[in-house]
Amino acid sequence: MKRFSTVTVIFFVFLLLSAIQNCESETSKSGDYIIYMGAASSDESTGNDHVGLMSTMLKRSGKTPRHRYKHGFSGFAAHLSEDEARIMSKQPGVVSVFPDQMLQLHTTRSWDFLVQESYQRQTHFTETNSQQELDVAEGDTIIGFIDSGIWPESESFNDRHMHPVPEKWKGTCMRGKKTQPDSFLCNRKIIGARYYNSSFFLDPDYETPRDFLGHGTHVASIAAGRIISDASYYGLAGGTMRGGSPTSRIAMYRACSLLGCQGSSILAAFDDAIADGVDVISVSMGLFPDNVLEDPLAIGSFHAVERGITVVCSAGNLGPSSQSVVNAAPWMITVSASTIDRGFQSNILLGGKNSRLIEGVGINLANIDKTQANKLIHARSAKRFDANEDDARTCAADAMNGTIVEGKIVVCDNDVGEKVIQWKSQEVKKLGGTGMILIDDNSMDLSFIDPSFLVTIIKTEDGLQIMSYINSTREPIATIMPTRSLTGHELAPSIPSFSSRGPYLLTRSILKPDIAAPGVNIVASWLIGDLNAAPQGKPPPLVNIESGTSMSCPHVSGIAARLKSENPSWSPAAIRSAIMTTGETSKYQESVMDYRFDQPQLTFSLSAAVQMTNTGSYITTEAGAKATPYDFGAGQVTLFGPSSPGLVYETNHMDYLNFLCYLGFASDQIRKISNRMPQGFACPEQSSKGDISNINYPSISVSNFNGKETRRVSRTVTNVASRLVGDEDTVYTVSIDAPEGLQVRVVPRRLHFRKIGDKLSYQVTFSSTSKSTLKEDAFGSITWSNGMYNVRSPFAVTSKADDTQDQ
Ligand SMILES: *[C@@H]1O[C@H](CO)[C@@H](O)[C@H](O)[C@H]1NC(C)=O
Ligand SMILES: *[C@@H]1O[C@H](CO)[C@@H](O)[C@H](O)[C@H]1NC(C)=O
Ligand SMILES: *[C@@H]1O[C@H](CO)[C@@H](O)[C@H](O)[C@H]1NC(C)=O
Repeated sequence: MKRFSTVTVIFFVFLLLSAIQNCESETSKSGDYIIYMGAASSDESTGNDHVGLMSTMLKRSGKTPRHRYKHGFSGFAAHLSEDEARIMSKQPGVVSVFPDQMLQLHTTRSWDFLVQESYQRQTHFTETNSQQELDVAEGDTIIGFIDSGIWPESESFNDRHMHPVPEKWKGTCMRGKKTQPDSFLCNRKIIGARYYNSSFFLDPDYETPRDFLGHGTHVASIAAGRIISDASYYGLAGGTMRGGSPTSRIAMYRACSLLGCQGSSILAAFDDAIADGVDVISVSMGLFPDNVLEDPLAIGSFHAVERGITVVCSAGNLGPSSQSVVNAAPWMITVSASTIDRGFQSNILLGGKNSRLIEGVGINLANIDKTQANKLIHARSAKRFDANEDDARTCAADAMNGTIVEGKIVVCDNDVGEKVIQWKSQEVKKLGGTGMILIDDNSMDLSFIDPSFLVTIIKTEDGLQIMSYINSTREPIATIMPTRSLTGHELAPSIPSFSSRGPYLLTRSILKPDIAAPGVNIVASWLIGDLNAAPQGKPPPLVNIESGTSMSCPHVSGIAARLKSENPSWSPAAIRSAIMTTGETSKYQESVMDYRFDQPQLTFSLSAAVQMTNTGSYITTEAGAKATPYDFGAGQVTLFGPSSPGLVYETNHMDYLNFLCYLGFASDQIRKISNRMPQGFACPEQSSKGDISNINYPSISVSNFNGKETRRVSRTVTNVASRLVGDEDTVYTVSIDAPEGLQVRVVPRRLHFRKIGDKLSYQVTFSSTSKSTLKEDAFGSITWSNGMYNVRSPFAVTSKADDTQDQ
């Protein structure tokens, strides 16, 4: 790195200060900015010259940085004028200067209940299991959560029987200012906690790592919550609740408050987490992709991964639109949502004597003990004379006549597009209705429903039955039955509409999301005593039901933590590869499971007691289509597969730097980002986004495929088989699942590994059988198998140009 003499530095400061002063006279808008300066200098106490320069410049111009980043990377967050920001961005050592934005958490919001088909991958937990678990070395894995804080008194974070805090832990437990309801205390489960002030939200109540939103508590208990043997949501979905890695330690970095999560705080959290010694970072939030080097999550996770920390992120809740996936840089693990096989049934009985049963789904606690028949109408017939028929039909605000609605169950049509179930139910409730039946085929995510009101959701075909009953009956009546939760009811998983979809907006040459995990109606711990979360007439819940990729992400974080404890030497890329190449694309049915009602739910268990039968049917989307890698990446995460992947794809640091080159960043900008690159690093000449297809990723994506020429990508696999003896010398053969119209060749077709750690490469050639362009995006997979392990990589081939946007 070029060194500056003191004289030069002073000269620079002088020039800059005059520039700033000149600019400040022109009134320019000011705001919070992040000054990102790339790799942290090796000597943290003095900082490098550029950092020193920038620090002096800030000080001389009277600016106090809100944050200074120095552990995992360098930079500042400060309030600057636009002109100052522009000038700073031109200074040596500065990679990017960008506005400090608020990121949003990826939950669909409380009262997110949900749905029908859910995939239950766990259960049958006993105390012996839990005790055994404490004996495994798992306990020393530390998961850092960047989120809304945590509720330390929750039973999920009890530290009973836990080993002392691992020695490698270098973090801290901030007590915060506010001592309500009592001061924040860490224990051997929550071993660290920090909070960051937001410049947008100055509330002393928030000067604590304590969670006031519930999100961070929920997410942390999904990934690492202790085993709680009889959890239930007011009697529903009862059973054993546990996190994916119940013995992992938790470090909470509270960067989020009511308004969201401020970018500069997120970066500060990454900077601290890297220094504190976490193994995995779990982030359930996001920013729409624009520029990788201006995205706090992409920057923070780049440096975390560089230090061997696995970063797991939510894919976003902006589905089902194409190109809605976020957190899709190749060093991140991008998790989309899937359903589990637990359903919340709330059926409807039509009529009196010769009653007919209609299946509905919903979570209502209003009539949990009693059922009652009520008059039934369609919302259309309650139209106010001055309202529009479509508004009335869909139970929109101010469109129904209270005199007619009062005392009745109202059938509402759903509107196309934006649907906010709770607004409709609030309207029916406000007008004195006794319940609501919503006709909606996309009802997997029942979030937004007020559980203290009777709401059930039915399919269009069942809606027709109800309509014909109403039309043909003088005094139609119906009963909405109490909710029952049941498992094994339907095949799961499927991909809910809200889950964000690939391809990645910035390039079609990397396949994202990476993997799907349960994110619909997930039961996990909540704030204690949260009156806002209590349904009318009920005490505050200890657990809550939430949906979103926010909930999917910590499922994978828990698995990643377990993998890290089983294989401490695995890189973040090896962990991602193991998770991806063992993903499932078929629906499963539990074969030896007894389908008890109101039985265990929740996330994962490590118990192998549940056998799954592959039914051979494909995982679908909520709309019923066969799911593609743009919906779920490599498929649904499996619990045990990742522990024995056989082979892994090591995506190394050069791959990530090349990714930045191919995206279009200049060599000298990239050189500032990392101090772990070869001397004289330069981007390959004449590279383009299309070259991203060639980085050693566990999935393959090829864009701009015109069918006339063949396209070749290469991959290298590393033999890691470790769990079984005698499989170091092993031969893998390839099988290819190619869609019609696309020819896929793999050379060689056999890979002979002689020992653990061996690396072998292969080439994949894509050509069109008709020598013409593909009409539609084509998907398939390449699987290497040695008879014991199957190592599957999904691929996507598209004729669309790399940076075109879908409509
Ligand atoms: C948050 O802001 C308050 C008031 O400015 C300050 O006293 C406190 O130290 C800040 N806390 C952190 C973690 O920055
Ligand atoms: C509501 O219904 C009642 C009874 O049918 C009727 O008298 C009244 O005019 C209606 N009001 C509106 C605003 O439609
Ligand atoms: C019921 O009647 C309404 C209006 O009278 C009509 O639009 C609808 O098609 C009928 N539905 C069925 C299923 O008979």
